[in-house]
Amino acid sequence: MSNPPGPDDPVNALILGSGGREHALGWKLKQSPRCGELFFAPGNGGTEPLGTNVDLPFEPVNTKNVDAIDYFCRQNGVSLVVIGPEDPLCHGLADRLQAPGRRVFGPTADAAKLEGDKAFSKKLMHAASIPTADAKTFTNPDAARAYAETRELPVVVKAAGLAKGKGVIVTDTAEEAVAAVNEIMGDDTQGGTFGDAGATVVIEERLSGQEVSVLALVDGRNLFVLDPCQDHKQVNEGDTGPNTGGMGAYCPTPLLEEDTLTEIQREALVRTVDALRRDGVEFKGVLYAGLMLTAGGPKVLEFNTRFGDPECQPLMMRLKGDLLEAMIATCDGRLDEVDLSWDPRVCCCVVVCSGGYPGDYRKGLPITGIDEAASDPDVTVFHAGTAMKKGQLVTNGGRVLNVCALGDTLKEAQQKANAAAKKVVFDGAFFRTDIGSRVM
Ligand code: AMP
Ligand code: GLY
Repeated sequence: MSNPPGPDDPVNALILGSGGREHALGWKLKQSPRCGELFFAPGNGGTEPLGTNVDLPFEPVNTKNVDAIDYFCRQNGVSLVVIGPEDPLCHGLADRLQAPGRRVFGPTADAAKLEGDKAFSKKLMHAASIPTADAKTFTNPDAARAYAETRELPVVVKAAGLAKGKGVIVTDTAEEAVAAVNEIMGDDTQGGTFGDAGATVVIEERLSGQEVSVLALVDGRNLFVLDPCQDHKQVNEGDTGPNTGGMGAYCPTPLLEEDTLTEIQREALVRTVDALRRDGVEFKGVLYAGLMLTAGGPKVLEFNTRFGDPECQPLMMRLKGDLLEAMIATCDGRLDEVDLSWDPRVCCCVVVCSGGYPGDYRKGLPITGIDEAASDPDVTVFHAGTAMKKGQLVTNGGRVLNVCALGDTLKEAQQKANAAAKKVVFDGAFFRTDIGSRVM
């Protein structure tokens, strides 16, 4: 295929990734009248009914894998590729999959550096006067330790590279800060936990306040800001225990008034896109600002360059309008022509996990009760760590299912999501019942 499909032609799409995010994106794409065939690589136990799960590895991003994806797209008339996770984006998969007649939804490696290199993004934020924590960057472990030792106020130590969400250590004391530097960069006795990703650290002032996620579609120039969400990273009720990939999220969050959201758009998102463009880098895809609402106003904790997981799930539940057209417009630099609106209801997403997560957990446990959970018309169950084995749905990860419910209020959405999540059965299943409770 050498020409992009015309405005009415069906679009075959390939979604790369295996989480609840990718299931939700496929579910929403499928609702577009122009959606043709859908393929997921590798997908999960829930994506198969929407399309076809295919075996096309994209990690590592190398010539063999890129050629296989490229060949598959040509053979199957795929004209839209959606890249879910950050790792392949940071390793240039969006750049390498570009081809005539094909749109790739996701930023180039240069743009994805905003997520993949925290030293780069911190430098950009400081240079562009984007509100963020004060910070210093170190490549020399002795200098980092010496700096950490002298800090009187608590700091946060971050591995600059991608560390699967585990490279951020929030500390209380100077000793803890030095220990964090040792863990990330290594010391006399051992190397750093994150390898090259921890060769550079960012040590920054510790902020306090509620956290919000503000995501926007960006087409290089225009932004479409999505309704703000709040994510819950800690494993236990009341935001306690170790961090996870995300135990739940709800949308919209009442924490951001309209004018604060406008301020975030202007001072964080637009400034970032403009700063990149001044350096010759065009950002296309999803720009995600993780912010803390401090006494001194909202401050950016981090940028991600993709949909958040689980934030994507409540966003897709509430998004009205055509995601396929919006993604194409994002790729084509025509976001100003796109009309998207929101279901006025609140969506609460509860992540049902496997016993032991975020530590060790078992896989292959039979799952039942999903149909019962989804029998309420306001409930949709997205799959994350699931797989079909010999016709039986089984667990295949730590975060297994994302139970999403719409309600007129956050409380109602939470109650419906919790009631539905209770109906899902597998050995050791657990979930947080307090998603959204902090703002109720
Ligand atoms: P990040 O991946 O940079 O968003 O960090 C992960 C988590 O660490 C955030 O969601 C916050 O809970 C926490 N965190 C990061 N930076 C800071 C900071 N400067 N002050 C307080 N907490 C932080
Ligand atoms: N929900 C946080 C993330 O996707 O990074």
